[in-house]
Amino acid sequence: MKVLALETSCDETAVAILQDGVVLASEVASQILLHRPFGGVVPELASRSHLTALRPTLDAALATSGLEIHAMDAFAATSGPGLASSLLVGNTAAKAMALAAGKPFVAVNHMEGHLLSPFLGNPEGVRPCLSLIVSGGHTMLVALHAPGRYAILGRTRDDAAGEAFDKVGKMLGLPYPGGPEVEKAAAAGSSSSGSSGSGGGGDPTAFAFPRSMLGTGHEFSFSGLKTAVLYQVQKLDPAERSSWLSDVCASFQQAVVDVLVQKTLAAAREQGFAAVGMSGGVSCNRFLRQSLADACKDAGLKLFVAAPELTTDNAAMIGFAAEHLLARGLTSPLEQDVDPNLALA
Ligand code: KG4
Ligand code: ZN
Repeated sequence: MKVLALETSCDETAVAILQDGVVLASEVASQILLHRPFGGVVPELASRSHLTALRPTLDAALATSGLEIHAMDAFAATSGPGLASSLLVGNTAAKAMALAAGKPFVAVNHMEGHLLSPFLGNPEGVRPCLSLIVSGGHTMLVALHAPGRYAILGRTRDDAAGEAFDKVGKMLGLPYPGGPEVEKAAAAGSSSSGSSGSGGGGDPTAFAFPRSMLGTGHEFSFSGLKTAVLYQVQKLDPAERSSWLSDVCASFQQAVVDVLVQKTLAAAREQGFAAVGMSGGVSCNRFLRQSLADACKDAGLKLFVAAPELTTDNAAMIGFAAEHLLARGLTSPLEQDVDPNLALA
């Protein structure tokens, strides 16, 4: 079975072609440079850019796969959550192709795409696990029992982890999106103390930032941490920025990672899972990946993490989720609308 999948929920125009769980093509046209001058995603610009980027991205994916549109067995698109005007572009294109080819349309939940992405390429398929989804818009702990059987245990009360990275990056004058920039600055090692003890880079103990909601249920909160970083930065001398930047980034990153790792492991233990999963844009962060891997090893838990290229938004994960829906006989009517607030469970 061959599936062509589109992802246009936010600021990446992505097209993928999968055949029976194997990715034949995965193209991502990023809009980062378009939105960078504004320090965040501008919805109107995003949807217009999807319109112009979709056709060349689709052509590139078809060329890589060596297949034509009429060879597909189904057409999938992210139908939510996300920006309504951006979702509409991918949805409308996928429905048009489905109609023209006389094949089914499959509406996919973006969060289900992230949730299943650690299992793309896993010979054992999707395994039960306690999964952490950490992206720019969401931070949630999900009990994954089987494809389609999910229970959300907790989510963030305010900022998502990626949002916190982006806002801290912005307040430090780093380019958008802040996540990868904060990681880079934390590892850069312009620390004056030189006491990181982690083989260079900023000192993660230089500033005592809060670890909100540790040990209290499955919810997260990152806005207090973000404010604590702001107050700390206001006390530092801007003229000395190069001497403290890596320490601030390393200390902030350590605070986020401590909370994410400890709450994920606590939830896995409480729910009796033998495995942990992690996905979403923030799971690209190498320090988070290593910290979770170390913690899972110590706790005797198996870890499934999305491949780095599958962490940030892409269409391969949407095609993979579509394959699981199709396997359960689930397709969507062409009349189905997009839903910016679509729930996972
Ligand atoms: O999953 P994603 O591409 O989009 C959403 O569905 O939100 O996630 C994007 C988020 C952004 O907030 C970005 O800053 C963050 O993932 N991110 C990172 C890293 N790479 C991307 N955060 C921390 N460290 C990174 N290396
Ligand atoms: Zn995403």
